[in-house]
Amino acid sequence: MSDEDTFVGEDASRYFTQLHGRRRNVLNERYMLPADEDEIRRYSYHHRILQFVCAGRNYVGPVKEVLTYPGVKHKRRVLDVGTGGGLWAIEMADEFPRVDVTGVDLAPIQPREVPPNCSFELCDLDGPELPYSNHAYDIIHARSMHTGIGNYQQFVNELTRMLRPGGILILIEPDSQPVVDGKRPQTSYASGAPGWFALWEAYRNCLTRKGVDVNVPSHLGAIIRQTGAYEKIRVQEASIPIGFWPKDETLLTIGQLAWMEYDHLLPAMRPMLLEAGIPEWKVKVLIEDAHRDMYEPVMPPSVRLHVVHAIKK
Ligand SMILES: C[S@@+](CC[C@H](N)C(=O)[O-])C[C@H]1O[C@@H](n2cnc3c(N)ncnc32)[C@H](O)[C@@H]1O
Repeated sequence: MSDEDTFVGEDASRYFTQLHGRRRNVLNERYMLPADEDEIRRYSYHHRILQFVCAGRNYVGPVKEVLTYPGVKHKRRVLDVGTGGGLWAIEMADEFPRVDVTGVDLAPIQPREVPPNCSFELCDLDGPELPYSNHAYDIIHARSMHTGIGNYQQFVNELTRMLRPGGILILIEPDSQPVVDGKRPQTSYASGAPGWFALWEAYRNCLTRKGVDVNVPSHLGAIIRQTGAYEKIRVQEASIPIGFWPKDETLLTIGQLAWMEYDHLLPAMRPMLLEAGIPEWKVKVLIEDAHRDMYEPVMPPSVRLHVVHAIKK
């Protein structure tokens, strides 16, 4: 896909700016990853990985029941917040043609050709009041976007307000804490993958400086409980291998997809690391060393993925 295919407006300069050679959004200063074709490709690998994790589907929990239960008078609606390239929203719209699916993001990087029941909006969701009505949605899905949110509890409180009673909130976030050989090493040298460890430490420091709580992924369950608005809260964790080391066939496929995703993610961190004041030579070394630990792993890297869904009372 070219920029031409995905860009939904007419004048790109209104929606994008350049930062250290990569295109990024203009709406939000906190979210520092690019909004360009390489990132859209990365999201597509991420999306496929998640489908493996969710046993070939795009969701966890009784989503199908909520969206197809007969005798319901209202028009059913799904909201995908931080939709990225919009793949999830498009596939949900295809699967549930009688349901309205809206994807919202900081940047217009979604395809122009979409199913008639799918639409995309631009909005910065990093604020105290989101511009959506109470009880407007049956399903709200927020995946891999906590790094653009300053107060994640407040964000979930707002999503809860926007969700209909009986509706489902799905939150999915990968952990930024590196996992090597199945463990969370505490120091670079104990990690067995010092380059990998150092880059993730630098990334987490940058996020913290930007006001992002890097512990959000492992606290999703507690954050949902804190609202007091849900029942049947289900917290799951998956270990995603990165690379070609798993013996099991399915895990190997996931590992390959994750390898491709992270091959794109490591250079995508460059503008953020430079913006944080890390000298160019050091950023280069950080990314190259992390790449080396991924390409020729002495200890196999993986990432923990936190998947939570809950039904609103
Ligand atoms: C890593 S991508 C994930 C895309 C998609 N959810 C997925 O899982 O494939 C994160 C997306 O969230 C969006 N995002 C981050 N912070 C946001 C915010 N404050 N408001 C709206 N969108 C945001 C980014 O623009 C980006 O497209």
